[in-house]
Amino acid sequence: MTAGHPTWLVTGASSGLGKSVALEALKAGYKVIGTTRDVNRAETTCPEFSARGGIWIGLDPAQSDSYEQFAKCSQEHNVDVLVNNAGYAFIGGVEDTRESEVRDQMEVNFYGPLRAARACLSVMRAKGSGHIILISSGAGFIARPGRGTYSASKFAIEAIHESLSHEVKSLGIKVLIVEPGAFRTPFSSRILTPTQYTTGFSEGYKGTAVEHMVAGSRGITSLPDSVKGDPDKAAQAIVKATITGYDYLRLPLGRDCVVALEDKIGQLRRDLDGTRLIAMATDVD
Ligand SMILES: NC(=O)c1ccc[n+]([C@@H]2O[C@H](COP(=O)([O-])OP(=O)(O)OC[C@H]3O[C@@H](n4cnc5c(N)ncnc54)[C@H](OP(=O)(O)O)[C@@H]3O)[C@@H](O)[C@H]2O)c1
Repeated sequence: MTAGHPTWLVTGASSGLGKSVALEALKAGYKVIGTTRDVNRAETTCPEFSARGGIWIGLDPAQSDSYEQFAKCSQEHNVDVLVNNAGYAFIGGVEDTRESEVRDQMEVNFYGPLRAARACLSVMRAKGSGHIILISSGAGFIARPGRGTYSASKFAIEAIHESLSHEVKSLGIKVLIVEPGAFRTPFSSRILTPTQYTTGFSEGYKGTAVEHMVAGSRGITSLPDSVKGDPDKAAQAIVKATITGYDYLRLPLGRDCVVALEDKIGQLRRDLDGTRLIAMATDVD
């Protein structure tokens, strides 16, 4: 890390978790670059960022030329810590989702962070240090009904970061996959659903878990009490991890996420116990 004043690059820093992480890193005395698709809007919605010394960069990680923009930024500012945060959720049944809607989700949640990570690595390798932090989700480990597209993007980008963690371990670079549960940010008010639902929910899935999930995800204007995650506490945990060090790859955040992960791990354990004999019997004699 750059001695004294590490530089953080946070994508999607204009709101929610990205904003909290950017402000927490500034509070810790670091130089912070925040990306946003709209600098003017970010200046209005998050004036405290530049007031406290943060530097906005206008870029959209979902555009293919963002790789060059990330690389330029990483070199010019000598980035030590990348926080791959920008993202949104697409909620809808697998059958009801257009391929173009899946691609759009992948551009933001998968290709965006992939571009940013690839673009920052050479600067970190040259220093022999750095952190690549992915803000994934509990949905990066668990695929609930109606969340296939969102989970696919998060599973896929977790795979890249998990693989990368092994690739760069001996080079002094650390990778952290953060898996938040439900946090109090504008995230749920920005959820997208299949275009085909504009003419009504699909007949074939009425009354199923898909309809339940979609109904619970649309038109959210105020956060339900069940959403317990505090983005500022999440930001404190993330910044602290880079200061104290960490020997884990995944950092779940929120009680709801811990419960959900335990459920999924139990399910994986039951599947393995139920299939071990079948699996063991398929090697050559
Ligand atoms: N809040 C939760 O409950 C929750 C739970 C699990 C995981 N997460 C993850 O946490 C990350 C941050 O989400 P948040 O809760 O802080 O939500 P948020 O307040 O909506 O912030 C999302 C950020 O991502 C950027 N973004 C959103 N849609 C985009 C698009 N189509 N193209 C490019 N950039 C886009 C936005 O940046 P600009 O508009 O400034 O460009 C925005 O600052 C996401 O990756 C999300 O998947 C959130």
